[in-house]
Amino acid sequence: MDLTLKFSILLLLLGFGCYSWGSYNLSTPSVSANASPFRNDFGHCERLVKKWASSSLEQEVKEDKHTLGDLLFFLHVPRTGGRTYFHCFLRKLYYSSLECPRSYDKLRFDPRKRHCRLLVTHDDYSMMSKLPRERTSVVTILRDPIDRVFSTYEFSVEVAARFLVHPNLTSATQMARRIRSKTKGVSTLDIWPWKYLVPWMREDLFARRDGQEHRGSGDVQSSDPYNMEEVVMPLHEYIKDPIAQEIVHNGETFQVAGLTNNSYLSESHEVRHCVQRYKHLGEHVLEVAKKRLDDMLYVGLTEEHRESATMFANVVGAQVISQLGGSNSSEESAANSNSEQSYSVSDSKSDNNELRDRTPNGKESEIASPDTVEAVKGNMTVGELMEAYEDCISSLRNTQANRRTSSLKRISPANFTKQARLQVPEMVLQQIRELNHLDVELYKYAQNIFANQHKRTFGIMGVGEGMQNSTYGAGIKVLSLGATLVLLLLAFYVFVNAQRRTSKVKI
Ligand SMILES: *[C@@H]1O[C@H](CO)[C@@H](O)[C@H](O)[C@H]1NC(C)=O
Ligand SMILES: *[C@@H]1O[C@H](CO)[C@@H](O)[C@H](O)[C@H]1NC(C)=O
Ligand SMILES: *[C@@H]1O[C@H](CO)[C@@H](O)[C@H](O)[C@H]1NC(C)=O
Ligand SMILES: *[C@@H]1O[C@H](CO)[C@@H](O)[C@H](O)[C@H]1NC(C)=O
Ligand SMILES: *[C@@H]1O[C@H](CO)[C@@H](O)[C@H](O)[C@H]1NC(C)=O
Ligand SMILES: *[C@@H]1O[C@H](CO)[C@@H](O)[C@H](O)[C@H]1NC(C)=O
Ligand SMILES: *[C@@H]1O[C@H](CO)[C@@H](O)[C@H](O)[C@H]1NC(C)=O
Repeated sequence: MDLTLKFSILLLLLGFGCYSWGSYNLSTPSVSANASPFRNDFGHCERLVKKWASSSLEQEVKEDKHTLGDLLFFLHVPRTGGRTYFHCFLRKLYYSSLECPRSYDKLRFDPRKRHCRLLVTHDDYSMMSKLPRERTSVVTILRDPIDRVFSTYEFSVEVAARFLVHPNLTSATQMARRIRSKTKGVSTLDIWPWKYLVPWMREDLFARRDGQEHRGSGDVQSSDPYNMEEVVMPLHEYIKDPIAQEIVHNGETFQVAGLTNNSYLSESHEVRHCVQRYKHLGEHVLEVAKKRLDDMLYVGLTEEHRESATMFANVVGAQVISQLGGSNSSEESAANSNSEQSYSVSDSKSDNNELRDRTPNGKESEIASPDTVEAVKGNMTVGELMEAYEDCISSLRNTQANRRTSSLKRISPANFTKQARLQVPEMVLQQIRELNHLDVELYKYAQNIFANQHKRTFGIMGVGEGMQNSTYGAGIKVLSLGATLVLLLLAFYVFVNAQRRTSKVKI
């Protein structure tokens, strides 16, 4: 068999696999509980969603998806670890002057800034409507949906708990407002989705603390940090709240599809509501999201963080290096280092802010200087990039862990640990799975893309550093798909033979 034939068979097999995964529970029409009373409404929703889906599928994208375009758009899904990529890869690769301004802040985003080459944001895919599609490469990282919901819950609580240094909610919110108006920086509280999740949690934490004071008792009945209603909203309550429905569940699919609560497209809000009401319309959204992932330059997985990082360095990093190094103009780099001086003074502040959030009393925590490698931008090897990345993440992780510990102290004895997660009842996990059924499907699809990307980058059975596990996983998948096909062929063969025999008998 020649290589292309092999490849197309492989594609066929994988395509087949995805298809059967994708349609597994979705093709069986699941009529959601509140669907029946709205017959007309459903018809309207179905037309609306289908129209949106078909126009989204037709949208043109960059032709050669494997080649880095002029603009790199990092579609950062919250709580997938994208921030470490921003700080430990992208900021080491791009001069600040090449960053699209205030990437995280929708209100100040100005796509007209010339020569901007890098956009990192929690904005969803609808941002593409403001970008030159045919010259833009999109990258993203996805995470197992259950872990992402846990992490979203914990981070909402963690950031909100920092405000508990204040005697009451009024003084906490006043202080937050004062800090935000005084500094030009972008704080977590300005950024979607935290600008909704944190104030909600903050209000709730203060109410629970006041309740405890009223009762005059600090006793906590439960030993499960995810269910300590005396101090913090239990996880099972959090996931059922309309706010979580609106901005947490299926958040990965909605963000990739461009349908979040933060979308630029006005029709997206109605489409999203239709899909939330009629579960099986989600199929169309999934189809769009999968196509978008297919067209991306890179898709990483939070769970496979080492492999994802290595691949990022090799696929994205290497191309950025050659693009910036190749677009030779010593003028440009001189201009860059100039503007960078002034830029980093004003910009680093807001940026660190954004990364580390602001403590409620306005003090900045220490930052791990990310700017020691300026000199090698555009002139570094992938190996050097990986080294810089490793150093950077270990200091970043330390800082984050310290902040988390000091914040969670304020809601003691609640402490979110890996151990404690294991105690969460299966029923709650099942609810999370159901509430995130689109993300569960999309994540499986992303795992598949990841395995293919891995093969393409490191060769078939790539014996790369520390890659054994994921390659093994991918290998098994290919094997089982192969086995399925063989079985199908066998069944077909038997069937045809049987047919022949019966026809012989008849004759
Ligand atoms: C499919 O849906 C049924 C109920 O509708 C559920 O019991 C089953 O676990 C689902 N299967 C998967 C793989 O999600
Ligand atoms: C909240 O705390 C501030 C500062 O201690 C105090 O001045 C204010 O009276 C308090 N407000 C309420 C409603 O208790
Ligand atoms: C997004 O969700 C938040 C929280 O539920 C809500 O306050 C806000 O109005 C929503 N925005 C849109 C555009 O629906
Ligand atoms: C870059 O430009 C400088 C001067 O403008 C020139 O000397 C150098 O050879 C160029 N390098 C490349 C890789 O084009
Ligand atoms: C890139 O780095 C190498 C050594 O690290 C150096 O010899 C070379 O001059 C550098 N090139 C540019 C364009 O800075
Ligand atoms: C929470 O647990 C972590 C890990 O076990 C520990 O390092 C930390 O000190 C604990 N925090 C509190 C407030 O108990
Ligand atoms: C591979 O997975 C096993 C458990 O499944 C784990 O113990 C091992 O450390 C993993 N190896 C690598 C290189 O990730």
